[in-house]
Amino acid sequence: MRFKTIEWENNSIRILDQTKLPRKEIYIEIKSVKRLADCIKKLSIRGAPAIGVAAAYGVALSSFISRNLEIKKAKIRIMKDIEMLRKTRPTAVNLFWALDRMKGIVEAHKENDAKKFYSILLKEAKKVHNEDIELCRKIGENGAYLVPKNATIMTHCNAGALATGGWGTALGVIYAAKKMGKKVHVYAGETRPLLQGARLTTWELQKNGIPVTLVVDSARATLLKKGRIDFIVVGADRIASNGDVANKIGTYPLALLARKHKVDFYVAAPTTTFDLSIKTGTEIPIEERGPEEVRAFSRIKTAPASVCVFNPAFDVTPHELINGIITEKGIITKPYKESIAKYIRVRKK
Ligand code: MRU
Repeated sequence: MRFKTIEWENNSIRILDQTKLPRKEIYIEIKSVKRLADCIKKLSIRGAPAIGVAAAYGVALSSFISRNLEIKKAKIRIMKDIEMLRKTRPTAVNLFWALDRMKGIVEAHKENDAKKFYSILLKEAKKVHNEDIELCRKIGENGAYLVPKNATIMTHCNAGALATGGWGTALGVIYAAKKMGKKVHVYAGETRPLLQGARLTTWELQKNGIPVTLVVDSARATLLKKGRIDFIVVGADRIASNGDVANKIGTYPLALLARKHKVDFYVAAPTTTFDLSIKTGTEIPIEERGPEEVRAFSRIKTAPASVCVFNPAFDVTPHELINGIITEKGIITKPYKESIAKYIRVRKK
């Protein structure tokens, strides 16, 4: 990749500020957990797996800040910071998965020296990051076989290197297909209201030499009806036990279109995105964001200031519309409930 979405550097978290793309490639150096929480809320760093990696580094950062405290006080502070990070975004389960993993280390460790404690938590956060790189690589390799030899592929939002610790989930499949020698052309939906498709996916794909065409979300039906799309792959923020998938708002209508026009619709996600504590997609908490994101287009007002707005950030695609879920362990297909239970160990709440 020609950019670094997130890294640990000089005892701080360095992220590429995604709110500024594609105009500016600016990196933010995060030295406090409060700043990290604000960056996650504002979507300076976003995408389910990347939020998980950021949260893990956030806990390491908290332990760095507390390194000179007495261990008991350090642990209290870290726990408070974990709760602060938990409140940033509700839908992507990777956030809670990473925080629970780090919390487990905090609780289990009998270490008496806060400095040593910091090195243990940093090691774990780096492990979370490295594992995500590996998960993305395997998802890409598993999914690449599904991509036709000469394919026009549609995707939604950004499920690429900007959204993960590695080369992405949905875009990882595309990168791997290209690496395998397949000819790919991507159609990226712009993804109203925050334009992750237009601003981020096109930028990332161009940087990596993948031909890409941008379409407004409402042009997708026309493209599919014309038979110009061979394959669809998107990411996920949370997957329920029955295979229902929460992903960026606009994913569900895309899946309906795919079914109508008989195009394969795949979801690519690591097993860290599954939440087996919930049975169906109706239980997934869906983030609703502020009205200003819809009343304006890139800060230019496009609607009356007082108009009521409904702005859900995600929707849920029912499992019956999904041809398969590409994970690092393999491709999960129908019957989802049984296959998911086989692939993934039940995670406690
Ligand atoms: O609101 P965002 O930009 O965080 O939403 C991101 C998505 O919906 C992605 O498709 C999803 O997190 C998968 S990223 C590999």
